[in-house]
Amino acid sequence: MTTLEQRYHEKFSNSKDWFDRGKTLFAGGITHQTRFMSPFPPYFQRAKGAFKYDVDGNEIIDYVMGNGSLLMGHSPAEVTAAVNAQSSEGTHLGGATTHEIRYAEAVKRLMPSMERIRFTSSGTESTYLAIRLARAFTGKNKVVKFHEHFHGWHDYVTPESGQSLGGIPKEILGTVIVAPVDSASVDKILSEDDDIAAVIVESNGAHYGTFPLENPTFLENLRTMTAKHNVVFIMDEVITGFRLSAGGAQERWNLEPDLTTVAKIVAGGQPGAAVGGRAEIMELMAFRGDNNWDTSERVPQGGTYNAAPVSAAAGIATLEAIATGKINERADAMADRLKDGLNDSFMRNEIMGHAHGISSIIHINIGLSCNCDQTLCTMPYEDIYRTMTPDKITGMRRAMLVNGVDMMGGRAFLVSSAHNEEIIDRTVAAFEESLNNLRDEGIL
Ligand SMILES: Cc1ncc(COP(=O)(O)O)c(C=O)c1O
Ligand SMILES: [Zn+2]
Repeated sequence: MTTLEQRYHEKFSNSKDWFDRGKTLFAGGITHQTRFMSPFPPYFQRAKGAFKYDVDGNEIIDYVMGNGSLLMGHSPAEVTAAVNAQSSEGTHLGGATTHEIRYAEAVKRLMPSMERIRFTSSGTESTYLAIRLARAFTGKNKVVKFHEHFHGWHDYVTPESGQSLGGIPKEILGTVIVAPVDSASVDKILSEDDDIAAVIVESNGAHYGTFPLENPTFLENLRTMTAKHNVVFIMDEVITGFRLSAGGAQERWNLEPDLTTVAKIVAGGQPGAAVGGRAEIMELMAFRGDNNWDTSERVPQGGTYNAAPVSAAAGIATLEAIATGKINERADAMADRLKDGLNDSFMRNEIMGHAHGISSIIHINIGLSCNCDQTLCTMPYEDIYRTMTPDKITGMRRAMLVNGVDMMGGRAFLVSSAHNEEIIDRTVAAFEESLNNLRDEGIL
């Protein structure tokens, strides 16, 4: 066992016992494929602000931030108050609610391209519904997605998303075209195949910006090309929504998609998500009083927890705070400080690598040099793969946890408005320590 592994075992010894229990209960011992971690994951019990606390009593600075859903940190006062108030006023009212109206108004205020909205319970459901709507609107069948882009775990978006293909029918795989991230290739695909209903894109690039897009040009090109070919342009803003700006990537880069999918931040840390966009597409879900349409052609959607009152309350409180502009401003400033600190650490320790990112998402690439502007990294995909080999990712995640920090996937930081200067500086010190730990172990 390496020194780091030994330190990990010592620091998180109670977590090991919980993992042993989990293995007898869950497939693979875990409840989300990204929570798998060697030798075992830490088990968390509570969280507040920028911190979370595990079963060994460790205080950990958190940059997973609810897989990106907590732009205001853990349990911010105004969101907690709204959730608590609604919890005792009914968690499911079994019918239309005033909550859903105010919730949709709060979403639309920040993203006006959503002329009509439907709520769902997860980002996966939202991208599924958006693709279904695109097919119904265009009368076409196929969907174009991009190499490495992740849109959840349903069949139509799983190919080349960093996930395996077990259990997905071949017929469905035949309806998915995985395109390279290159405007000319997309144009060729759309020109040669007249059965394409939609193009869906992760608005800041694959895996929350690990593979950045040349934006806004790339998204602008997609907008133009899809319009030319009668293809529905779906911007997946599950990560970027309300983070890249109060109005998401579409506001930041002044784009008008046909449909948008949002989740995570939109529900303020509760389960919840939405799809919205052009009225003429969304209204394909409406009852028309025509029996054939209503029962055979209408785009259907169920969902017991759509716009559930507690999620609506958390979402409204969060979106109202974001609408002030202060939350994003604060999170972005803290992310900039973190990025500068990480880049200084690379230089000070003479380790090849850099931190890059926009808004409050920071990524690191270790082992290769890059002369990008450290905002939208221009490293070729093959090089990015080389900077993120499994031994480096696992090693970094483990080292950072031993040094008191939980990173997203071992190579990214999702910063919130609850992180402050002192916490950022502690993070940079932990990173520097981790670089040295990894160098000592021969991983760097
Ligand atoms: C861009 C993107 N789309 C969709 C999803 C799926 O969302 P959910 O996990 O809520 O199903 C995710 C989740 O991380 C995501 O990052
Ligand atoms: Zn770069």
